[in-house]
Amino acid sequence: MTDRIVPLVDARRAKPLPPVGTLRATGPEPGMDTRGRPLRDLRISVTDRCNFRCTYCMPKEVFGPDYQFLPRSAVLSFEEIARLARIFKSQGVSKIRLTGGEPLLRKDLERLIGMIVDIGGFELTLTTNASILARKARALKSAGLERITVSLDSLDDRVFRAMNDADYPVASVLAGIDAAAAAGLAPIKINMVVKRGVNDHTVLDMARHFKGSGHIVRFIEFMDVGATNGWRMDDVVPSAEIVRRIDAEMPLEAVDPNYYGEVAERWRYRDGTGEIGVISSVTQAFCRTCTRARLSTEGMLYTCLFATSGYDLRALLRDGSADDQIADAIDRIWQVRADRYSEIRTAETAALRKIEMSYIGG
Ligand code: GTP
Ligand code: 5AD
Ligand code: SF4
Ligand code: SF4
Repeated sequence: MTDRIVPLVDARRAKPLPPVGTLRATGPEPGMDTRGRPLRDLRISVTDRCNFRCTYCMPKEVFGPDYQFLPRSAVLSFEEIARLARIFKSQGVSKIRLTGGEPLLRKDLERLIGMIVDIGGFELTLTTNASILARKARALKSAGLERITVSLDSLDDRVFRAMNDADYPVASVLAGIDAAAAAGLAPIKINMVVKRGVNDHTVLDMARHFKGSGHIVRFIEFMDVGATNGWRMDDVVPSAEIVRRIDAEMPLEAVDPNYYGEVAERWRYRDGTGEIGVISSVTQAFCRTCTRARLSTEGMLYTCLFATSGYDLRALLRDGSADDQIADAIDRIWQVRADRYSEIRTAETAALRKIEMSYIGG
């Protein structure tokens, strides 16, 4: 173990559940957090493992051959995840995103998808690096998955291989995207994390390639998630700059959000050939409408992507607590929620010991 792993362990420490009965008055309205935000989205990390080592997410120096991933006994079973999904539904969640790590590495993921579909009432999607999507797309669709988001940081093979640090080629990701489109997993969104001096020179190429394809590329500002990615403000390319660069060649106009709290700001091509999105967590925080909770692979609940600790729901699942007791705990956790990390980000907070994105899910 290196020193740099320590922050991860710290952030995985559970904090005590808010006490029973004292908190109803804390939120402005029942079901809202202290800032008036409802709980709507649950992002579930189904594995902390990934076959990529993206330099900004799972750098090899930290996530090397000796890195200790979670043991099987620590990982929530599909039955436990499905039980929680049902309970979260009773608390207002209507959208579930499966993440990781790389979610398609979790064996039989289709079975979990089927179980969530059977509960009903959720919009269900998944974020993947697409490395094994080409052979999984049809099964995912048959299991009931509606749509998919693919991470792809550049179409330049040399740049992409360097960023995923697993020597993985662009062509295989594109094959995965094609297979997903053929299977009817639409619309497909493509996430490109933009890092200055690393892949920002390939932004226009990415926009050009998918213009008119029906897929939606979203350019994401590089964020200071976790404690290992060496984030510096200088590495961030502000979304406004991305929009300016694309607009100069392919004119754009702003589009209204699809729904309350949408993370991406939408822009469409004036010639009617589709749209792009920009995700500006650094330069234009969107905490004010943040409706997202995150469930880690081992069942810790985080109320912010930048949390430094979470609540141990697995302990409740495994100690005989009834569904309504777990629902009540989630309600209390949400009632005391005050997170707005991106709004208050400073150089000091960027250095905090936060949870890793590969563990908590994007
Ligand atoms: P859809 O609109 O349903 O497609 O989902 P989405 O816009 O939430 O997309 P996705 O889940 O792919 O999120 C895109 C990226 O936005 C993530 O990979 C993160 O980098 C960033 N992001 C998502 N949620 C949050 C959040 O709550 N806080 C911050 N700071 N960034 C987020
Ligand atoms: N900043 C912005 N986005 C990130 N992602 C992972 N790490 C970061 C970061 N530091 C994105 C991935 C993927 C999703 C899961 O989160 O590219 O699209
Ligand atoms: Fe894996 Fe996604 Fe992290 Fe890259 S960003 S290492 S693909 S979890
Ligand atoms: Fe939500 Fe935290 Fe992201 Fe703000 S920083 S949008 S509160 S997850």
